[in-house]
Parts: sequence; structure tokens; C-alpha cells
Amino acid sequence: MLKVVAENAGAFYQHYPRAATIVTVNYSGRKNAMAVAWHCPMSFNPPYYGIAVSPKRYTYNMITESKQFGVNFMPYEKIEAVAAVGGSSGSYTDKFTEFNLAEDSAVKLDVPIIRDAYAAFECRVIDNRVFGDHAWIIGEIVAVHTAESVFKEDGVLDLNVVQPALYLGGDTYCSADKTTIKFLDKDIYGKK
Ligand SMILES: Cc1cc2nc3c(=O)[nH]c(=O)nc-3n(C[C@H](O)[C@H](O)[C@H](O)COP(=O)(O)O)c2cc1C
Repeated sequence: MLKVVAENAGAFYQHYPRAATIVTVNYSGRKNAMAVAWHCPMSFNPPYYGIAVSPKRYTYNMITESKQFGVNFMPYEKIEAVAAVGGSSGSYTDKFTEFNLAEDSAVKLDVPIIRDAYAAFECRVIDNRVFGDHAWIIGEIVAVHTAESVFKEDGVLDLNVVQPALYLGGDTYCSADKTTIKFLDKDIYGKK
């Protein structure tokens, strides 16, 4: 494949698509939510999940003060909610009221769980380090919420039931095409 080489990374959109999530927080009687596309599992045992949040975000101080956050995985049919919480700040608006975000109660922590999410994690902050213009905040997952029958017995998301919200960068969203699903047994393929 022909490649164009650049030394300046620019906005380096090459890593997209990524799941478009909504990170939620509750601090001092105020709830907030922001869109987060930069997030990543860090460890199975104990279960750690990392999110990259710019210290400029209103959410940032709420997370550092409350030491907890929720990660909500959104279906494609609710991408407008992702764009809404990613296009406004809790510094001047109550996003839950403004965007009519229904919530469920958390079971272990005090973080809003977005009712429209097909899965959500409750995370307790165990580390927070600033790298460049974002902080990498690691949370221990202390509770997992999943909508009924969206994950198959093997734990894999069932694209026949839910289409995940994916972010391509540049305010552009898409989902996954179920006609492309393939099961490739690595033990068989790894022998070739
Ligand atoms: C799809 C999408 C993904 C985003 N991902 C991130 C992210 O990973 N980290 C981040 O700091 N900001 C991200 N943002 C920007 C914040 O969501 C946005 O600045 C938001 O207004 C912050 O809200 P707050 O001021 O209430 O905290 C994203 C925005 C969008 C629309």
C-alpha cells in the first residue's frame, strides 16, 4: 500500500474508529456527563479501565474530587446524546435536564448510569497522571451494568441486538456492520 509519511502527527485521527462513550460523574450534589472517545482497558485482574480527560474539562475536577466515574457505552441510535454532552459544558448547563438524559442508579458508587447505554462501568479512581494536554485517569471497575441479551454467551457483543456508537473523529459517527462478522479461531490460524 502506498503511504504518505508525515513527521507532524497533527490530530492523528488514524486510530479511529473508537467506541463513543459517555463518562459520568457526581460531585457535591451536581451530576455531569461528557463524551469520551479516548479510553482503554488496562488490566483484567484487578479490572482497570483508563480514560483520557483534558484537565480543561469541567468533568475533570469533578472526577478528581469525587474519585469516581462511570463509563457508559452507547448504542448508535443514541449518538445525538454523545454529541450533545460532548458539545456543551457542565460549567454552564445541567446536561441531564437539558438533554433529557434518563439515568439508573449505580450499585457500588455514586455515579449516574445512562439508561440508554447498553453497558456501563462504575469505576473508582486509582491513578491520575497528566501526559501532555490530557490526564490518563485509571479506575478500578467495581460494578458492571449490561442490558439484557446484548452480549452473547461468550461475552461478545451481539450486533443483531445492538449497534455500538463508534466515533471517527471530526464530529463523524458510524456503527459496526454485522454482515462483516467472522469467527477466526486463533489456535487454528496461529498454526499456519
Ligand atoms: C465524540 C466525542 C469524543 C470526545 N472524546 C473526548 C476525550 O476522549 N477526552 C476529552 O477530554 N474530551 C473529549 N471530548 C470533548 C468533551 O466531551 C467536551 O469538551 C465536553 O464539552 C466536556 O464537557 P464538560 O466541560 O462538561 O466536562 C469528546 C467530544 C466528542 C464529541
